[in-house]
Amino acid sequence: MTANNSQATRELSNGTAIPVFGLGVWQAADGPETEQSVEWALELGYRLIDTAQAYQNEASVGRAIRNSGVPREEIFLTTKFYPGNEDPRAEAEKSLERLGTDYLDLYLIHWPQSGPTWAWPGMEAAVEAGLTKGIGISNFSAAEIQELSKISQIQPAVNQIQFSPFEYRAGLVEACEAAGIVAQAYSPLGTGRHLDDPVVARIASATDHTPAQVLIRWAIQKGLSVIPKSVHRERIVENFAVFDFELDAEAVAALDALDTTNQTAEALANKWWS
Ligand SMILES: NC(=O)c1ccc[n+]([C@@H]2O[C@H](COP(=O)([O-])OP(=O)(O)OC[C@H]3O[C@@H](n4cnc5c(N)ncnc54)[C@H](OP(=O)(O)O)[C@@H]3O)[C@@H](O)[C@H]2O)c1
Repeated sequence: MTANNSQATRELSNGTAIPVFGLGVWQAADGPETEQSVEWALELGYRLIDTAQAYQNEASVGRAIRNSGVPREEIFLTTKFYPGNEDPRAEAEKSLERLGTDYLDLYLIHWPQSGPTWAWPGMEAAVEAGLTKGIGISNFSAAEIQELSKISQIQPAVNQIQFSPFEYRAGLVEACEAAGIVAQAYSPLGTGRHLDDPVVARIASATDHTPAQVLIRWAIQKGLSVIPKSVHRERIVENFAVFDFELDAEAVAALDALDTTNQTAEALANKWWS
């Protein structure tokens, strides 16, 4: 599937639709920096905002949504359970208070700390309590998805994973698709590290686009939902302008060849939790 329209969505297993493009706000400072970037994004037509309890900027995201004038139901809002805490349902209630809204579109386990299954019943309880429409996972490997499927009543709708040409986790995306889970690409620019790569630069120049646009477009053409982060207005504009061109087979193959993961089904090379 290749998206050629900026409002394209993918259907999730819970029947809702997730935009294929959105704004991430990791490392956007709570206060004016986050508020301003979310407001710019919504004004420009972004309709997916990705935050997390661990980012400590949910209150700013909520203020920006209210200030934007965009109706809440037109926005797909994701936050993530911080797995250092114990009760996903109770933490969802606190997120809703900080965000100043009465439901989430998607609530993810941020990473499978202490194993992939213990938090899931609490995630399901958040759905049953009407706190969130959908639940999902992040940083789960193919093996962890399998383990989770043995105990889940509600299947995860999304797995949010580190994904770029340099971290081309094709095995993991395949496992997600086989389980009916939509894969979402985080750090599509390598948190900025992949923007200076000469292959990316060559394709950018050949397609008359920028390195960021090439990296984002590649992930969209792989069928993922993609959530680049920026706190600069001109970059928020630039990152969204990826629906007016297509990478051809030669460009896609050259980008695929940058993979350093051997198209793995693992979620990360180095975990930051135990
Ligand atoms: N689930 C997880 O564990 C997890 C982990 C990491 C990220 N995420 C999510 O994914 C989102 C995106 O990932 P990310 O924040 O790691 O990084 P990213 O989107 O790959 O890259 C963001 C970095 O690139 C810069 N940048 C953005 N657009 C640019 C452009 N057009 N030209 C030049 N530089 C540009 C940004 O700087 P400025 O902001 O200064 O413009 C920032 O330093 C996060 O914000 C978060 O929502 C989730």
